[in-house]
Order: sequence, then structure tokens, then C-alpha cells
Amino acid sequence: MNLKGRSFLKLKDFTPEEITYFITLAGELKSKKKQGIAHDDLKGKNIVLIFEKTSTRTRCSFEVAAHDLGMHVTYLDPAGSQIGKKESIKDTARVLGRMYDGIEYRGFGQEIVEELAEYAGIPVWNGLTNEFHPTQMIADMLTIQEKLGHLQGVKFVYMGDARYNMGNSLMVTCAKLGMDYVACTNKDYFPDPDLTAYCKKVAEETGGSVTLTENVEEGTKDADVIYTDVWVSMGEPEEVWADRIRDLTPYQVNEKVMNYAKDTAIFMHCLPAFHDLETGIGRQIHEKFGLTEMEVTNDVFESDQSVVFDEAENRMHSIKAIMYATLK
Ligand code: CP
Ligand code: NVA
Repeated sequence: MNLKGRSFLKLKDFTPEEITYFITLAGELKSKKKQGIAHDDLKGKNIVLIFEKTSTRTRCSFEVAAHDLGMHVTYLDPAGSQIGKKESIKDTARVLGRMYDGIEYRGFGQEIVEELAEYAGIPVWNGLTNEFHPTQMIADMLTIQEKLGHLQGVKFVYMGDARYNMGNSLMVTCAKLGMDYVACTNKDYFPDPDLTAYCKKVAEETGGSVTLTENVEEGTKDADVIYTDVWVSMGEPEEVWADRIRDLTPYQVNEKVMNYAKDTAIFMHCLPAFHDLETGIGRQIHEKFGLTEMEVTNDVFESDQSVVFDEAENRMHSIKAIMYATLK
């Protein structure tokens, strides 16, 4: 498998075999790290991380992974560069492409990261846009593989805003890997019809399926994986909270939902999650709307079925695999 020089912008750009290769490589690099086997094969290379939105997992994963691979890192925060204000993406791409071996970008529209990749001349990795969150996908699939032993045929249920970065990416990834993807949510939050049609077509070829349903009992029945994400994403205006709470509360992941799923089902969340009142936003929402937990109850989040911290750890191993495969 030769992926050298490729950018990693969205899973639509990769074949099932290539996606499987990233997952396998992530597992191998994880095992090397656990055994203390050095893998600093990218010594002497430099990468730059551009974050126009905040991050904990993605930034730390890129930095730790780069260091483990022997690389040096520059971090540009949302205010610390000329990007978008004094300098276009096209010009920025051509400047950074002269200095670095790879660029990570987290920001708003997918078209920005696509443009960066078009002009940089080096691999660009999408660290999250409004439309897609592809590095999260390799971590999530590695986690499912580790916990359930396989991917093909897994019933994967996504609850919440199924038309944003996480829902879109998971639908594409599940379809490519022959899984049974279900978006179980209010119909106003169903994914874009064109993307859904694309995924249904892909699923026909891989033996998977794509289902959209508003019925919680049917949607989650015998699920292997129950997945959710925040109801309001980074960059969205505060005014949407009231509608989201009204529309998505019936799709909260709680004990009832986990009881519809298989006994062996796992709960996943890309994090950060609103499952208690220990965050500023959690407390603000509590004051305004009286909720103590949102997309997932604290009981489910803290239960034995929850694999969210294994999933978070796997971000680092999978981002390492993505950089390794595209740079080595
Ligand atoms: N899951 C995820 O991307 O987390 P961060 O926003 O902390 O990077
Ligand atoms: N949908 C969330 C994902 C965070 C990792 C957001 O965009 O804020």
C-alpha cells in the first residue's frame, strides 16, 4: 500500500482497502508504543498544526504522535497567524509548503482544507471541518475492531445531529467498511440526501447498509455500537441551543437506549461530552434550560459499556498512522 504524498481530507477519497490499511497500521504503531519499541522513522521532518477552532485530543495527538515519530512541530492557534485575515489560504499553502513536510488544519468549511491541499504540494491532514472529521474515523474503527473483533456487519447507530462532521464521516466510513449504519434522530437532522445516496451506493458494494429513522426502539434494537456527539458544534451560534434541546432530547443516549441495544454493545463518543455539570457550558445550559446532562446520561458515560477513553487514546495512534503512511 503506497499512500506517500497523499492528503487525508475525507474518507470519501479512500478505498475500503486503504482505510483498512490505516486502521491496521494504527494498531501496529500502538503495539510498538506499548512495547517501548522506538519508531522515530520520520526524524528530521517538520509539521505545522493550524487550529482555527479549539482542541484537546486532536492537537495533543498530533504533537505526541509527531514527537514519537521523531518530527518537530509548530502550533498556530486561532489568533496567532496571518491566515484568513491578511493572507489567503492559497498563499498560506504555498508558504508553508516550502517549509514543512505536512500540514494539519482544523477549521470551518471543508473547501478551505481542500484548497490548502491543492496548493501546498505536501500532505494536508484534516483535523476537523464543519463537514468531516476523518482522523477521528480511524480511531473509532480501531476501537470497534479492538472491542468487537470485527467491523463488517456491525450495527452502528448514531444519535443526535447526523448532518454535521461526525454524522457525515461515520456514515461514509461505515458504508465503506461494510457496516450497517443507522442515523437515529429527528428527521430535520438527517444527513444531506446526496451524501446519503452516495453512501447507500457504496454500501451496496461492500455489503453494508444505510438507514435513517426517527424511531428510537427500532433504530437502536440489537445495536453493536451506540454513538453520539454534542448537540451544538464548535462555531455554531448560541441561539440554536433551544431548538437542539427540544428536537434532540428524545435521542439522548440513556439506559433505555442501551437496553434496546445488544448486551455486548459499546457506547462511543468523540468527546468532549456534556454528561454532567462539571463544565462551564454544562452549567450555563443547566441554568437556562434545567438540563443536568445532554446527549448522554452520566450513568451511560461512566458505565462499563462506555469505551470513550480507549477511543480518545486511539486518536493518537491513528493520527500517527495517518502521518506515517502519507510521509514515509
Ligand atoms: N474528538 C476531538 O476531536 O476532540 P478535540 O476537539 O479535543 O480535538
Ligand atoms: N461535532 C463536534 C465534534 C467535536 C470533536 C464539533 O464540531 O464541535
